[in-house]
Amino acid sequence: MRKTVILGLTAMALLVIISWMNAPKKPHPIAFSIPKGWPQPAYDFKSNPLTEEGFALGKKLFYDVRLSKDNSISCGTCHQQFAAFTTFDHPLSHGINNQQTTRNAPALQNLAWQTNFMADGGITHLDLQPLAPITAENEMAETLENVIAKIKSDKAYQTMFLSAYGDANINTQRVGKALSQFMLLMISSNSKYDKVMQGRDSFNLPEKLGYGIFQQKCASCHPAPLFTDNQYRNAGLSQDDVLKDLGRMRITNQPADSLKFKVPSLRNIALTAPYGHDGRFFALSNVFDHYRKQMVLGPTTDPQFNNRLPLSNFEIGQLKAFLNTLTDSVFIRDPRFSEPGAAAGPGNHGH
Ligand code: HEC
Ligand code: HEC
Repeated sequence: MRKTVILGLTAMALLVIISWMNAPKKPHPIAFSIPKGWPQPAYDFKSNPLTEEGFALGKKLFYDVRLSKDNSISCGTCHQQFAAFTTFDHPLSHGINNQQTTRNAPALQNLAWQTNFMADGGITHLDLQPLAPITAENEMAETLENVIAKIKSDKAYQTMFLSAYGDANINTQRVGKALSQFMLLMISSNSKYDKVMQGRDSFNLPEKLGYGIFQQKCASCHPAPLFTDNQYRNAGLSQDDVLKDLGRMRITNQPADSLKFKVPSLRNIALTAPYGHDGRFFALSNVFDHYRKQMVLGPTTDPQFNNRLPLSNFEIGQLKAFLNTLTDSVFIRDPRFSEPGAAAGPGNHGH
């Protein structure tokens, strides 16, 4: 009698151990830390809890050329780390067969604080953003069906989906969420400006003067700490004859939104030339010339620009010095976000 009980207990213990060994390991949570003095992020992390495994999967997807039709273009082709994840030196990015996009690739940074994406805010959730470039004819030109099929046939992905989600189910929703996990952690908050604000560094004279001018003339639309108010505004850029981009009006159909574009963040601005929603300004000097001389004043131009934005050469010099303090060299070299096996640098870009 006692023997059977002992045997039974041993068998049960063994079963427990075996099932414990076979159960998928729980993914390891990553804490999202908000830089000091920043607002709460807008992203709902409860719907997509950050984990080491989800992040690693998102990173693999971000740099995977198989997300495009001819296996030639990844997200990282257009969003290059050394350029704060814009396309280095390109007004418009190249997609499949060298077709061009119709807008300049924006920096990818601090996305957790944004609720609308793209220059016209046409995408309202970060998890949905990847579906646009994957399926756009002039970007990755692939179908979601094919992408999922390619991913499903890859052993490494099967293991990664299992460890990120607890089961091997592979679908577009999970692809979107994993890419979000990777991009949400791209936080740029380590610039000289940040160190000065934390009392760990100080501005030199031109930077300090530039900061003062910035507070007066720019911060109403490009406020710290994100250096954007996330609103849509017409900054007086004339409509391009070929692209005929109406901006926010494309989404809302409201004539009042004609030629309004999302105010871009100025973090890492020294790295993200060319500028403007269609990349028409090759250098910061061109942006300043636009603000003080070339602005087209139309019915929807921001009322703050009724007199354009007068700036002296002296002020421009100081402003440039200040804007340079927004460069975050930790962010653009952070190995967590780097393409595996690639040497970072302008010399390494494809076209
Ligand atoms: C062919 C170049 C190209 C590829 C490939 C590409 N993007 Fe983009 N991306 C762009 C351009 C251009 C925009 C801006 C579009 C607009 O404003 O209309 C953009 C916008 C974005 C935004 C919005 C950022 C913001 O601040 O509004 C995110 C996020 C993004 N891309 C992520 C991705 C991901 C993830 C992938 C891979 C699945 C990807 N991109 C592939 C060119 C590209
Ligand atoms: C009334 C709001 C407003 C004010 C004030 C303002 N900006 Fe802007 N800024 C914008 C908008 C909107 C855009 C995007 C324009 C577009 O692409 O159509 C922009 C774009 C830019 C860009 C290009 C960024 C990029 O990534 O393409 C730079 C640089 C810039 N602004 C700097 C400044 C500076 C410096 C000042 C102060 C001298 C300033 N802005 C004042 C609204 C404003």
